[in-house]
Amino acid sequence: MLDQAAQLKDQLLEKIETASDMATLEDVRVTALGKKGQLTELMKGLGKLDPEARKSTGQALNQVKQAIAEALESRQETLKASEMEARLAAETVDVSLPVRPEAQGMIHPISQTIEECIAIFAEMGFTVGEGPDIENDWLNFGALNIPPEHPARQMHDTFYMPKAEGEDRQGPEGEMERVLRTHTSPVQIRSMTSTKPPIRVIAPGRTYRSDYDMTHTPMFHQIEGLVIDKSTHFGHLKGCLEEFCRTFFEIDDLPLRFRPSYFPFTEPSAEVDIGCKRGGGTLELGPYGDWLEILGSGMVHPKVIANCGLDPDEYQGFAFGMGIERIAMLKYGIPDLRTFFESDLRWLKHYGFVPLARPNVAFGLSG
Ligand code: DAH
Repeated sequence: MLDQAAQLKDQLLEKIETASDMATLEDVRVTALGKKGQLTELMKGLGKLDPEARKSTGQALNQVKQAIAEALESRQETLKASEMEARLAAETVDVSLPVRPEAQGMIHPISQTIEECIAIFAEMGFTVGEGPDIENDWLNFGALNIPPEHPARQMHDTFYMPKAEGEDRQGPEGEMERVLRTHTSPVQIRSMTSTKPPIRVIAPGRTYRSDYDMTHTPMFHQIEGLVIDKSTHFGHLKGCLEEFCRTFFEIDDLPLRFRPSYFPFTEPSAEVDIGCKRGGGTLELGPYGDWLEILGSGMVHPKVIANCGLDPDEYQGFAFGMGIERIAMLKYGIPDLRTFFESDLRWLKHYGFVPLARPNVAFGLSG
């Protein structure tokens, strides 16, 4: 057995010395010292020897074991050091290389404007809600107090979704008909039917109407706002929109004018104008005596509240809606609506925003 042990020792030491990486070294360790390793097997045989021989052979085997363990450890150190050296050599930085080109992407003014609106309304305690682009007739019109024969429907130039063959989507009053939403107002209904008041929500998103000229594109964006609580009144509506407009346009003394108007889903309704001056083909916002319409608003109609399963004697609130492209054009001096959707990279480079400077009310909205 002693011969065997001496032979094994020589073999193993040689393998250890020639192991060229950590994995091979680990293999050697397992074949020698593992549970079923060669040295371990020899040690298991000790029990069969008489006490004298067991003692001397045991000692000899232990010495072999120790020698192997030491050899393994020192080889491991050497390999580690050379692996580190190889890595350092491979990962050197070539400082003579030219710097990387700057990131090319820009944030589209629509995204920027939406982010700015969210930053302002979030500060006032609003959350962000969403609804799908394809709505049914009830959510886009019916629940908002726009029945089928209502003239407001004509104004919306609705895109109706084609029906699948044999599909009947009429429902009691055609309310299951599917449409591309013509405004973000259906999100009001979705909010009131899914959350318990108090509600303070804004909903930015895409809207669609069949219209195309200098000032209309078939797809555009709106942002809707809704506040529902027990004692919300028109003063809150005024204060909220005044705060929004002044912060958004970054003009502290921007005057607002609330002009009586009509929307089926609000009563009373008001269109909001902001102060401006026109002349020489330019437009400047501020307290200059002239007015420019920018949004629609009003106190939510009791019928709309009731349509959502809430008691209009208990709850009331206000709503507003505005066009994102319109306020973006005004703030950033973009003259033609259609250019928003032409994907012209030169336009985007000119009107786009740097990706890492996100809007924030405290640190500046638009960089
Ligand atoms: N939905 C209206 C539109 O698209 C805009 C609007 C007006 C929304 C008044 C409102 C509102 O929430 O109160 O023309």
